[in-house]
Amino acid sequence: MAYISPALNVMIAAARKAGKPLIRDLGELENLQVSMKGPADFVTNADKRTEKILIDELTRVRPGYGFLAEESGTIEGKDKTHRFIIDPIDGTTNFLHGIPHFAISIALEREGQIVSALVYNPATDDMFVAEKGHGAYLNNKRLRVAARKTLAHALIGTGFPFHGHAEDRHTRMQAELATMMPATSGLRRMGAASLDIAYVAAGRFDAFWERGLAPWDVAAGILLVKESQGVVSDLSGGQNMLDGDILAANEALHPLLLKTLKAAK
Ligand code: IPD
Ligand code: CA
Ligand code: CA
Repeated sequence: MAYISPALNVMIAAARKAGKPLIRDLGELENLQVSMKGPADFVTNADKRTEKILIDELTRVRPGYGFLAEESGTIEGKDKTHRFIIDPIDGTTNFLHGIPHFAISIALEREGQIVSALVYNPATDDMFVAEKGHGAYLNNKRLRVAARKTLAHALIGTGFPFHGHAEDRHTRMQAELATMMPATSGLRRMGAASLDIAYVAAGRFDAFWERGLAPWDVAAGILLVKESQGVVSDLSGGQNMLDGDILAANEALHPLLLKTLKAAK
């Protein structure tokens, strides 16, 4: 049975409340694909509504905590030692297309350290949680990273840059793909970084890397992987993952991947 702190309990309740309407929206989005208007406004509204529910619920039970949230940015709290880092819908493009692979991501930071984490996919009801020092769980099942030790056997998640990203990011990704594709048993671009990282914690993916992410994409996943005995770093091998570059893997694959990605030019 998972150890769930009072704060994590509050996060779970908020995510479930905000997740319910997203399941209804997903059905509606299937219809909107074929309408002239398209689903873009609908998704913007869903994003804003989800974030508002999360912030309202969390503030109600933890008044004074600050926030860093994708839509609202920084909200200073009276309590300077705590803040929630939130992505209301990670995987918006999937959501927009009616693909049931997206997540609510919430991390709680205490004095600069992530102490509780949640990644929740309302469409599948996959609830990934972690508590610092108490392990990571998927729907009450304890998580452990995969044991595969060679790149040739590893299934690896990543994220590609897309329209609007600088050319050098595309060039770098292409170089990384050219190195990684022949070296691994497969690459996946699932489209929701927080879930991808949670998949590493669950041993579904052997590893994940991506560049240029936001703090709310990675904050919860970092703790999930650490609490599943995995290794997480930025792509220089340091601990500045909230700056947006991340590599998560097991102990054996992490150094191999770091070296391989550094060599990709
Ligand atoms: C995006 C997803 C995607 C990643 C992008 C993120 P959003 O977040 O996590 O997988 O490749 O870089 O921005 O926009 O869907 O919240
Ligand atoms: Ca995101
Ligand atoms: Ca988002």
